[in-house]
Amino acid sequence: MAAIDMKNIVKKYGDGFPAVNDVSIDVADGEFMILVGPSGCGKSTLLRMIVGLEDITDGDMMIGDRRVNDLAPRERNLAMVFQNYALYPHLSVYENIAFPLRLAGASDSEVDEKVRTASKTLDLDEHLERKPGNLSGGQRQRVAMGRAIVRDADAFLFDEPLSNLDAKLRGQMRTEIARLQKRLGITTVYVTHDQTEAMTLGDRVAVLKRGILQQLATPRELYTNPGNLFVAGFIGSPPMNFLPATVNGTTVTLPFGDVQIPERSAQRVENATSDVLIAGIRPEHFEDAAVKNESGGSTFRAKVEAVEWLGNEAYAYIPFEAPDAVRSQLAELEKDLDGEGLRTQMVVSLDGASTIAEGDDAEIWVDTSKMHLFDPATGENLTIDLERAGRVPERQQAAHAG
Ligand SMILES: Nc1ncnc2c1ncn2[C@@H]1O[C@H](COP(=O)(O)OP(=O)(O)O)[C@@H](O)[C@H]1O
Ligand SMILES: [Mg+2]
Repeated sequence: MAAIDMKNIVKKYGDGFPAVNDVSIDVADGEFMILVGPSGCGKSTLLRMIVGLEDITDGDMMIGDRRVNDLAPRERNLAMVFQNYALYPHLSVYENIAFPLRLAGASDSEVDEKVRTASKTLDLDEHLERKPGNLSGGQRQRVAMGRAIVRDADAFLFDEPLSNLDAKLRGQMRTEIARLQKRLGITTVYVTHDQTEAMTLGDRVAVLKRGILQQLATPRELYTNPGNLFVAGFIGSPPMNFLPATVNGTTVTLPFGDVQIPERSAQRVENATSDVLIAGIRPEHFEDAAVKNESGGSTFRAKVEAVEWLGNEAYAYIPFEAPDAVRSQLAELEKDLDGEGLRTQMVVSLDGASTIAEGDDAEIWVDTSKMHLFDPATGENLTIDLERAGRVPERQQAAHAG
């Protein structure tokens, strides 16, 4: 096994467009690293540069203590783990796992020893003589990983392995991959556009947008301290609400009225250059004021347009107006996120016990200590706690420059 250290990696394709632009990501030995972002942000390009399927325009690709930029894929000793379509249907599970060893001309005894060790780890002992077609999706995934294991690869690389599966199978396979990665303790880089996969699988997650690293952090850090509007809008489902906000001391005026924020947040936005900021509040940081019976936070009244009651919780939809500066920034954001149009309605998650109904003028409680404030001009999160945000490259650069 080995660490993978990407240092200032650049990839320019023929037309000179930087598909990957000065990206630095350090994957520790044994770490499960996720590369996530919308389609076209450069995830596959980056992964292919790690394996050696794509030339590196600039920067250093380090695997262990070797610089591998100029090494052929087979000299890098990494295993790309493909989905079931890469298994040979006419070969038994045993021979499928043995395949790379046969290719390398290993002796029968070596093949047998390695296949049986892998099969034991993967709980495939009783399936060795079966054909892939007779296995469940999870078992096939394990066979594919078995093939990577027998090669004693330094790291596993996955490129959207679950994207063609239905939701239920995807959930099962996700659990399977997480369990095996933990058991094997093998360095893993996993590409996905799905924030749920990123959050559930990753030790750390690298969020990319148009070839640029936005933030590199643990799932919890990304969720609680997103570096900018893009990360805030990308991580979390249903997504964070973005509202126009005017700040005056600790009073924040939202479309629904005034709320109070903690002194600490107020200080961080003191020097903001815009009059109107963008407040980011996650749906679960609201509650029906009638259900919430603790002090702290703020309440406001708003007209509820629609309610979806799910039993354990309910989503209430509350439309709002936004000034042009905020609207255009949010429209831009939606485009970056591959979104479905401008969100000028707020989604709030209420307790299942709430009786708020469609058309009500409801009293809503909000936990303003969890609210973030963003600069609409730069998208930067002004209230971020940088100590708990992992790495936010742009912020760190600014800190150096200043
Ligand atoms: N072979 C190629 N030639 C030219 N441009 C490419 C090539 N492969 C990818 N790109 C471009 O590079 C960018 C990143 O692509 P890719 O790494 O496939 O993104 P992702 O995997 O995140 O969807 C895209 O703009 C894409 O059009
Ligand atoms: Mg891709």
